[in-house]
Amino acid sequence: MTSPAVPPAARPETRAASGQESAGPRHVGIIMDGNGRWAKARRLPRIAGHKSGVEAVRKVVEAAPDLGIEVLTLYAFSSENWKRPEDEVGYLMGLLKQYLLSEIAELDRNGVRLSFIGDYSRLSPDILALLEGAKTRTAGNTRLRLVIALNYGSQDEITRAVRSIAHDVAAGRMAPDAVTPADITARLDTAELPQLDLVIRTSGEQRLSNFLMWQAAYAELVFTEQYWPDFDGESLRRAVEAFGVRERRYGGL
Ligand code: IPE
Ligand code: IPE
Ligand code: MG
Repeated sequence: MTSPAVPPAARPETRAASGQESAGPRHVGIIMDGNGRWAKARRLPRIAGHKSGVEAVRKVVEAAPDLGIEVLTLYAFSSENWKRPEDEVGYLMGLLKQYLLSEIAELDRNGVRLSFIGDYSRLSPDILALLEGAKTRTAGNTRLRLVIALNYGSQDEITRAVRSIAHDVAAGRMAPDAVTPADITARLDTAELPQLDLVIRTSGEQRLSNFLMWQAAYAELVFTEQYWPDFDGESLRRAVEAFGVRERRYGGL
């Protein structure tokens, strides 16, 4: 029996498989949850939690490179978060704008390359311009790749990938039976990123909420009770440490 192809989510692009043995995760995704509950516990409005959440972002971005993390993907706004009250959505968009405006110089100085995933074309033109500017300005940086998920949802991302394949099939560029998992992986927003190794979710919730579902096929999951605004470099270090003692088998032995 011939052994079937290694599934794309388990592509041997890891350092371990390439002989560069390392216990640490290369690509970490974080579901930054619990801002509202953090604020509620302090009798503050929900937006105060979001504001404090930006501080936590600053801390993890600073801590990540020293922990050996190459790519950090942060879930900032989901394709379902539009269901929230208009003023909260507006506040979150304002925070994003402010973050990009005030942090870009520092991020650039620190060698951080910014990119974005999700259907962010739906965001306002002024934010789109900032996203483009941030991408271009930091394109040559190599210390950390910071990926921000905006209007992101896995189901939407996979749907867009499938649509693109359907177009190729309809145009006769691809045979229906020739479609492989690798073709889907190659059409996802994360196509050029390394395999996702670790997903962290704060606030005690234990679900993916439409975050990197395809990519997380063989990722390790770490859940913490901490609300996002309380998360910091030390919390990230602990999650990386927990990852280090997991045994990844990818279905093998
Ligand atoms: C995460 O915190 C931030 C976003 C989803 C944008 P929440 O706003 O979801 O906080 P909780 O879950 O209500 O506490
Ligand atoms: C997930 O958190 C989205 C982000 C962190 C951006 P939510 O708070 O929206 O998820 P649910 O609604 O609890 O599943
Ligand atoms: Mg939440």
